[in-house]
Amino acid sequence: MMVRMALDSSTSYADAVATAVRAAAAYYADGSTHLGDDEYDALVRDIEAYEQEHPDQVLPDSPTGKVAGGAAVGDVPHTVPMLSLDNVFSPEELADWAAGLERRLGRPVAAWCVEPKLDGLAVAARYRAGRLAQLITRGDGLAGEDITHATGSVLGLPHTLAEPIDVELRGEVLLTQDQFETANTLRTAHGAVPFAHPRSGAAGTLRARDRAYRVELTFFAYDAIGLDPALDHSALLERIAGLGANTAATTAAHPARCATVEDVQQRVEEIAALRAALPFGIDGVVVKADTAVDQDQVGSGSRAPRWAVARKLAAVHKVTRLLGVEWNVGRTGVIAPRAVLDPVLIDGVTVTYATLHNPADITRRGLMLGDQVFVYRAGDVIPRVEAPLVDERTGDEQPIVFPEVCPRCGDTIDTSQQRWRCVRGRGCQAVASIRYAVGRDQLDIEGLGGSRAVQLVDAGLVADVADLFVLTREQLLALDRMGATSTDNLLAAIEAARSRPLGRVFCALGVRGTGRTMSRRVAAHFGSLAAIRAADAEAFAEVAGIGIEKARVIVAELAELGPVLDKLAARGVGVEETAPVRPAADTGERAGPLAGQSVVVTGAMTGPLADLSRNEMNELIERAGGKASSSVSKRTTLLVAGEKAGSKRAKAEELGIEILTPADFAQRVADHLPGA
Ligand code: IVH
Repeated sequence: MMVRMALDSSTSYADAVATAVRAAAAYYADGSTHLGDDEYDALVRDIEAYEQEHPDQVLPDSPTGKVAGGAAVGDVPHTVPMLSLDNVFSPEELADWAAGLERRLGRPVAAWCVEPKLDGLAVAARYRAGRLAQLITRGDGLAGEDITHATGSVLGLPHTLAEPIDVELRGEVLLTQDQFETANTLRTAHGAVPFAHPRSGAAGTLRARDRAYRVELTFFAYDAIGLDPALDHSALLERIAGLGANTAATTAAHPARCATVEDVQQRVEEIAALRAALPFGIDGVVVKADTAVDQDQVGSGSRAPRWAVARKLAAVHKVTRLLGVEWNVGRTGVIAPRAVLDPVLIDGVTVTYATLHNPADITRRGLMLGDQVFVYRAGDVIPRVEAPLVDERTGDEQPIVFPEVCPRCGDTIDTSQQRWRCVRGRGCQAVASIRYAVGRDQLDIEGLGGSRAVQLVDAGLVADVADLFVLTREQLLALDRMGATSTDNLLAAIEAARSRPLGRVFCALGVRGTGRTMSRRVAAHFGSLAAIRAADAEAFAEVAGIGIEKARVIVAELAELGPVLDKLAARGVGVEETAPVRPAADTGERAGPLAGQSVVVTGAMTGPLADLSRNEMNELIERAGGKASSSVSKRTTLLVAGEKAGSKRAKAEELGIEILTPADFAQRVADHLPGA
């Protein structure tokens, strides 16, 4: 990570300008800058601050006030300059900007348009008589490079428009995540170096000629020159879509017309929240005065329009070093590689590990140990390694060694599928399975954490969760470091687990695709372990949230677990019928103080709820007739907000949702509290 200090001398200012110029040149050449977007923006802000204090010292190649940091060149003149956007970095800065615009107008902005800031490259597509005639990069904003050769590879940019008109469409060309993955698979298969991330891939692909393979890109239009100049921006976007070109209207982050600055802020948050789920990258949200009248009145500066601004979002791509690859064996015997990274801060979270999906993924990305890699993280997604920066290699990088035998038990690996698996399946992971089964949200048996489960398995006393229920006092006492008190406590905990609700017993089995919530639903639906065992895929598919594919997996897993289920039944676990099945349990039609409510819990619980895990809170909500959910939306009717509640509370307040303290909530559901 880069440590920044205010620029305090003409030398540090000159160094900063040189760094920014180098980074901008690399960024606009092929996107391969070593400086993250956040660092670049921060550097330019420092340069701006220094220049304001020392206007006499401004260097001619300073990136401030220039389109593309002054980096890009080209020889096709633009008819109308292709401008950039000014940036704001927080809701406050956005509000200030909007207020400034309204001051300049001398009245409120008539309407706003809020749309995604697509993270690709700006292009101008010239149509003559409705036919695509020329494609040009933005370049320095005044002239760009001719990239007409690339037109055949750009989805969303039709060869022929719906009308035979002369028009120039402007927009962003990018690689969607799928296009990026496919591009890198193709590139490594052809011996070419992988693209570091989608934007560099788009830049490289647009310029490339005569490749042995074809990489597909996607175009999103956000402007047009030559249509009715009186059209408002949102109407212009509709007109463009009507001509047959792609716009962000086809996406969840579609442009929205907003009446007030509050609505603008809300749509900005919505688009930001959608970021991780979008199939392409965005690096911000663009806010525009929507009407042609407002736009014309304020006009544009030399670098950017005054009627639009980019609310930048934190960068989700960062460069760090791949230190190692760990091979972890999951509960079901799947052997999954995981990247160990030099810790890197991405959007406020330190990332140390990233997923690599499967061994083929490593090969496809052409990764080596010691590589500088681009890592992606947005929202709650698991961080992933995008690709190595091959140009940054020193020669010291080492190949990643794949395991030849199961790293846990040493048995053979089944490599017939993309996901490798130990041939012993879940047997390989007896210890992990048992630890999972006794977890707080499953059987909740205390005293089996740490090395105790390993000890039991190694001593041959326990091979699966069912074996716990026949452990004897003598067997336990014979173990190392196991005294009378711990033994009795453990036996009591195991005894108590015998009567856990069916949902928890089922969850303890670790059936793929059935976490805590799904396990509760399965239990409510079938009522007994015997009924669950007897169910076929069609019967499972009747449970809300289980499709037929998942149902088949569950049935297959349960067949595999047959011997464990037999033992559990014989040992009196999960045999009791649960409370009478409510016929409408799956549809959410329930009785109780929370009937019809959709409840979200956030922050730390206190008072009578202090000891409840999130899962136990969710169980409580469901017992009281409500539906538990993890995120606040318009459908949410109640938020239980404990200490340190953050963004969920803010959102609930914004949406006017009822908010209760843990103490008030506990009162409302008093009859349903554990032990009530
Ligand atoms: S409007 C005069 N709208 O962001 C209009 N730009 O950082 C100026 N961009 O050069 C551009 N999504 O390449 C606009 N919805 C959007 C955009 C967008 C991405 C890019 C565009 C622009 C750059 C400025």
